[in-house]
Amino acid sequence: MKTLASTCGAALAALLLAAPLPAGAEERITRLADVPEDFEFHPLPPGEGVDEVYYGCIACHSLRTVTNGGYSRRVWDELLDWMVEDQGMMEPEPEVREIMLDYLETYIGEDWEG
Ligand code: HEC
Repeated sequence: MKTLASTCGAALAALLLAAPLPAGAEERITRLADVPEDFEFHPLPPGEGVDEVYYGCIACHSLRTVTNGGYSRRVWDELLDWMVEDQGMMEPEPEVREIMLDYLETYIGEDWEG
């Protein structure tokens, strides 16, 4: 027999699964044109890890180089290897690299319009 509690639980689970973003998170920006000019890490879109990517990548080139393309995690991963192996980027600590990759995959992923 279905209890009221299990029905409510299922409904709540469905609601949580349907929610695109965790509670309190801002709607993700998916186009360069929508990143506010006065955002401190412009042109990068806001998101967790944006500061790591900003400071890790701005030493050598414009962040436009980063926002030009939206890539899958695998491609970003290869790009980071290429930055380190051939372009002279300092190898980031593994946990920082993970934060960078999470950010790049999530916020400048394949659906990004640069
Ligand atoms: C030590 C310098 C250096 C750092 C730091 C650096 N890059 Fe680069 N990056 C380069 C150079 C140089 C190029 C241009 C290479 C070329 O086109 O021959 C480049 C090019 C690129 C490109 C363009 C690739 C293409 O399609 O031609 C991307 C994307 C990129 N970098 C991403 C990043 C990201 C993301 C970071 C930070 C995590 C980063 N870079 C940090 C030196 C650096």
